[in-house]
Amino acid sequence: MKTIGLASDHAGYPLKELVKEWLTVRGYNFVDFGTNSTDSCDYPEFAHALGSAVEKGECDKGIAICGTGNGINMTLNHHCGIRSALCWQPEIAELARQHNDANVLVMPGRFIDNATAEKCVDTFLNTEFEGGRHQRRIDAIPCCK
Ligand code: RB5
Repeated sequence: MKTIGLASDHAGYPLKELVKEWLTVRGYNFVDFGTNSTDSCDYPEFAHALGSAVEKGECDKGIAICGTGNGINMTLNHHCGIRSALCWQPEIAELARQHNDANVLVMPGRFIDNATAEKCVDTFLNTEFEGGRHQRRIDAIPCCK
């Protein structure tokens, strides 16, 4: 059984709670790295906790949410072992898996409706990496090794 790591700031907290319900109903294991309320907070704290857990293999994939998605996505992508993709449509989430082997899905909590977000999660968790030419490209991404 795979484990999904979750992280958000205050702006992403409501959607993170919805994602937790979605994962629970479908029997996924998850670890919530916070935040735990809509009180104002700083997204790097939660993004770094999630990024480290995915890098160490403690979580197989991650889902992260802030207001626009940008701040939490930027933070996650500072981790050498993270390929974090900002997605606001299921088609982008699908390509993030097929072409980029994304291991973290980021969504913009203030700019995505719940039904679209759930489709992004479902697609992200159930789409395989295509490999081939895409493997060569993602191998060339890291500059922190
Ligand atoms: C919080 O107001 C907002 O700045 C944050 O959630 C995110 O959008 C930053 O990139």
